[in-house]
Amino acid sequence: MTVNVTYDFSGQVAVITGAARGVGRALVESFAAAGAHVVAADRDEPGLAQTCAPYGDAVLAVTADVSTEDGAAHIIDGATGRFGTLSICVNNAAVAPHTSLLEETVQVWDTVYAVNCRGTFLMTQRAGRAMIAQGQGGRIVNFSSGVSSRGSAGAAAYASSRAATESFSRVAAIELAPYGILVNCVSPGLIDTQPKPLPPVMAESLSRRIPALPLARPGEPQEVVNAVMWLCSDAASYVTGTVLHVDGGVGVGTRAGAPIIDDDVRYDWVTGRQRT
Ligand SMILES: NC(=O)c1ccc[n+]([C@@H]2O[C@H](COP(=O)([O-])OP(=O)(O)OC[C@H]3O[C@@H](n4cnc5c(N)ncnc54)[C@H](O)[C@@H]3O)[C@@H](O)[C@H]2O)c1
Repeated sequence: MTVNVTYDFSGQVAVITGAARGVGRALVESFAAAGAHVVAADRDEPGLAQTCAPYGDAVLAVTADVSTEDGAAHIIDGATGRFGTLSICVNNAAVAPHTSLLEETVQVWDTVYAVNCRGTFLMTQRAGRAMIAQGQGGRIVNFSSGVSSRGSAGAAAYASSRAATESFSRVAAIELAPYGILVNCVSPGLIDTQPKPLPPVMAESLSRRIPALPLARPGEPQEVVNAVMWLCSDAASYVTGTVLHVDGGVGVGTRAGAPIIDDDVRYDWVTGRQRT
C-alpha cells in the first residue's frame, strides 16, 4: 500500500515490541524506512531474526519478554545503550487466546494479563523514565482492541485486558504530560495478520464476519502502522490520552445489509400530519 503522506523520523530511536510478526513487523519496516533507528523486540527469536534480517545494523533485535521487569529493562537499556536516546516506544506485543468463560483457566487468564497489562505497564514505565532522563519528551503508543468496548464470546481475558490498557494509557498520559511525553492507544479492528493458508475453521468464521464489517474487508497491518506513525509524528503534537480506532467502522456498527427506506408510512414527516 502506498499513501500520500511521508514521515521523517531521522535521528529518532523507536522501540517496537511484538516485532516478530504481524503489525509489529510492519511497524519495524515502516519506522526503518522513515529513517528511525529501530529496536525490534520480541520473545520469538527466530521470528525476530526474520523481521530484522533486511536491515543490518540499522535495526537492533532484542529477544525479551515484556511481561518481566528484566525483559522491559533489557529492551529500553538496549535502545539507550546502542543509540544513546529513546524517542518512541510502541507497545504492540500481546497475546490473544480465546476460550469460553466457563472453560477459562487461571493460567491462561494470568498469562494474558501478564503480557497485555503488566507488559504495557513495565514498558511504559521504563520508557517514561528514560525519556524523562533525556528531557526531550517522547511518544508512547499502546495497543488495545475493538473488543475492549463490546462483548465478544471467548474474549473474557483478552477483551478485559485490552480495556485495562486503554484505562492505563489515560493515566499514563496525565502523569507523563508534564514531561512532554504523549501517550496514546491504537485500537485495531479485524486486521489481516494471520499466515496463510488459514485453518478451515478460521477461514469459515472470517467469511461470515467480513461481510458484516462496514468496509466489508479486514484491515492491513500497514493501515494500523499509518495510525501509529501519525501519533508519533509532529502532526499529532496536541494529541494525548486518546484511543484511535483503526477498525473500518466496526466499532460503530455493522454494514447496512439492505436498501435504506423509510418504512413508517403513518406520518408525513414534513407536515407532521398523519397520512390517511
Ligand atoms: N490482528 C488483529 O486483528 C488485532 C485486532 C485487535 C487488536 N490487535 C492488537 O494489535 C497488536 C498486534 O496484533 P498482531 O495481530 O500483529 O499480533 P500477533 O499475535 O501476530 O503478534 C504479537 C507479537 O507479540 C509477541 N509477544 C507475545 N507475547 C510477548 C511477550 N511476553 N514478550 C515479547 N513479545 C511477545 C509475539 O511473539 C508476536 O510476535 C496486538 O497488541 C493486538 O492485541 C490486533
